[in-house]
Amino acid sequence: MTLTLDPENGILDPCPQITPRYLSDLKMMFKDQQVVDEILKEENRLIYEIRYYPFRTSKSDMALAVTRIFPGSIGGEYHMTKGHKHERDDQPEVYYCVKGEGFLLLDTLEGEFQAIPWRAGTITHIPPMWAHRVINTGTDLLVFIGVFHLSAGHDYEIVAQKGFSYRVYAVDGKPALIRQT
Ligand code: F6R
Ligand code: ZN
Repeated sequence: MTLTLDPENGILDPCPQITPRYLSDLKMMFKDQQVVDEILKEENRLIYEIRYYPFRTSKSDMALAVTRIFPGSIGGEYHMTKGHKHERDDQPEVYYCVKGEGFLLLDTLEGEFQAIPWRAGTITHIPPMWAHRVINTGTDLLVFIGVFHLSAGHDYEIVAQKGFSYRVYAVDGKPALIRQT
């Protein structure tokens, strides 16, 4: 099976499934809940979209997902993915940044943390058991590819409960990692 990705806009062809994530879908992930509520009164902003393709064979199943994060911030905190940990603790993932700039946050949610600076061309291996979240700190679209096993599973609840160790804010127009207590 061969797919085509337009690196300029992150459009995948063919693409059987597109999942939009609106502000209301990741409301709890942003720190400033008052600002979130104020924005939601005006508009339910589209933060990112996931374009998904499952590769099914008789022996093993993989999936490819292309995520397009639109630029912007909520209460000074840059647009980001919801973030999750894989349900299966033996399942890694490979992320490839196609376009844009930002950070990949990796967190065990048990004290270990890494922020990987990202730009077009960066490839990062996400080990099993590390929660992962991508932040768009640029003024343009951030596009990345994730390749993972279809059986990995996605635990969003644990991220909502424990939170990542750092958040990424725009401070004087530049990204700053702020430790969460
Ligand atoms: C799959 C994966 C990515 C994300 C996507 C959206 O395991 O890591 O394809 O699913 O970037 O992020 P979430 O799933 O956190 O909303
Ligand atoms: Zn994942």
